[in-house]
Amino acid sequence: MPDDITDWKERCAELETLLGEAREEALYCRKIAEESGRVALREIEQLSKVIAARKKAEDALKESEYKFRSLFNLSPQSVILLNMETEKFIDVNDKFCEITQYVKEELLELTAGDLGLFCDGDRGDLVDELTRGYAFEAAEFKIRAKDGSLIDVMAFARPVRLSGEDLILCILHDMTGQKQLEKQLRYAQKMEAIGTLAGGIAHDFNNLLMAIQGNASLILLNLNTGHPHYEMMKSIEKQVRSGARLTAQLLGYARKGRYEVKPTNLNHLMRETAEAFSRTRKEIRVNLDLAGGLYVVEADQGQIEQVLLNLFVNAADAMPGGGQLHVRTRNTTHEALRGRVYRPRSGNYVLLQCIDSGKGMDKTTQERIFEPFFTTKEMGRGTGLGLASVYGIVKAHNGYIEVESYQGRGTTFSIYLPATGKKILDTGDIEQEIMEGTGTILIVDDEAMVLDVGASLLEALGYNVLQAPGGKEAVDICRDHPGPIDLVVLDLIMPDMGGGEVFDRIKEMRPGLKVLLSSGYNVDGQARRILDRGCDGFIQKPFDINQLSAKIKDILKQR
Ligand SMILES: Nc1ncnc2c1ncn2[C@@H]1O[C@H](COP(=O)(O)OP(=O)(O)OP(=O)(O)O)[C@@H](O)[C@H]1O
Ligand SMILES: [Mg+2]
Repeated sequence: MPDDITDWKERCAELETLLGEAREEALYCRKIAEESGRVALREIEQLSKVIAARKKAEDALKESEYKFRSLFNLSPQSVILLNMETEKFIDVNDKFCEITQYVKEELLELTAGDLGLFCDGDRGDLVDELTRGYAFEAAEFKIRAKDGSLIDVMAFARPVRLSGEDLILCILHDMTGQKQLEKQLRYAQKMEAIGTLAGGIAHDFNNLLMAIQGNASLILLNLNTGHPHYEMMKSIEKQVRSGARLTAQLLGYARKGRYEVKPTNLNHLMRETAEAFSRTRKEIRVNLDLAGGLYVVEADQGQIEQVLLNLFVNAADAMPGGGQLHVRTRNTTHEALRGRVYRPRSGNYVLLQCIDSGKGMDKTTQERIFEPFFTTKEMGRGTGLGLASVYGIVKAHNGYIEVESYQGRGTTFSIYLPATGKKILDTGDIEQEIMEGTGTILIVDDEAMVLDVGASLLEALGYNVLQAPGGKEAVDICRDHPGPIDLVVLDLIMPDMGGGEVFDRIKEMRPGLKVLLSSGYNVDGQARRILDRGCDGFIQKPFDINQLSAKIKDILKQR
């Protein structure tokens, strides 16, 4: 304890100083504490901003990665990433797996070279270009799928650098469908070109046959059956019919054959043709399997008969030791034709099938069977026109034909013909004896030999005959002839003025005049158009006297 007051005072002063210092210290400490708290707070705030920004960036990255993955995998084109040096696949999308038939894991073990990608004469140049940093576009390659089949692809590639690695980004367009369409187009063009040629030859050939047939008919009119030349003349007529069948095949192929479509029940036609065929090929058994309530189709019966006979004969030829031939009809729709390269018109169809158990065909033969003059039969046995005409006729009916064949196991031909809502009309058969008549007939044809023989046939039938060697002359005669004209036998194709124009002009002058159109074929449906304008009938060259007399009688009885 201090012993005097001075000591106390000093002691107090000391304490006061100490307290003052302590206060200052405390204030200082408080200040420091406050400041570091603020700093800490600031830092925490900043840190959370950084965290939030990073999170946002991560989310954006995830989203973009998701978008990229979806695009990559959903792309209708194949997309691949390759290592530039090793050509190993780094990434591939689903489409690439689909076309190559590999799963992704398998592909990631392989290189572009394993599939043949970039592997052809240009390979060096293309990869070189990529290595030098250039892109390339539209380079075509064939790549090998897992099953060994080759796929045509068009490649677009560019070099990219990702994570420090030099890569190739490549997009591949599958060209298989396009190549197939190109092949079909070339095939169609080839068929079209040969068709034009065949059509032209057949037309001239028909006129020759017409002249031979006409003259044979005329000679036969004056020969009794006991005459020594009678059988020979009959044989000439028979040969003409064979020749006419050949031209009919050619015209069928060229889609220029006789084309008189009418609503038809194919079951009747199938049954009749099968029966007729069975009589000629006894070693073949024909089994009919015909659908009840079969849709009606608009068909040229003669042409469909030609189709069926060709199929039956081919089937029989494929079964030289005899066998069973199954023919079927069925109602169906365009749905049955789904997945084909062509796009069928929608609606109902009638399916005709001809199934044999013969020797069948290999793939190369199958690819060529519809080409005219393609045959595997020995010289003199086949002309190779059968299926060509079948093809042309089916196309002319807006139908489709398909073949399925296995070597040693047989062949199935399937024909789809569009159904119609029209009703079948009963027309009755044309009588087949010579029917003489009276009246005046004008015959028009630019082929002198056809005109001559036609006029002689008409005269032999008892008609007065006027002749016109061309369209203009026909119009002149119709204008200037003083008496009545009962009928005109009018050729369709003539150089100066065609049948269509002559028809319109003479109908203007003599509206009641009957017209029978005669032609070897109908060019682009010309005959049909004239028939639609009120022409009274159509006769196919070469015709014989029976057919001509029946047609004329038929038209003139409506007088
Ligand atoms: N049912 C079938 N079975 C096996 N091969 C067939 C069959 N049908 C057609 N072919 C093959 O298709 C080829 C062409 O047939 P196509 O009918 O066009 O001509 P072709 O029969 O040889 O001669 P053509 O019919 O003119 O007398 C035949 O030569 C044959 O090789
Ligand atoms: Mg044939």
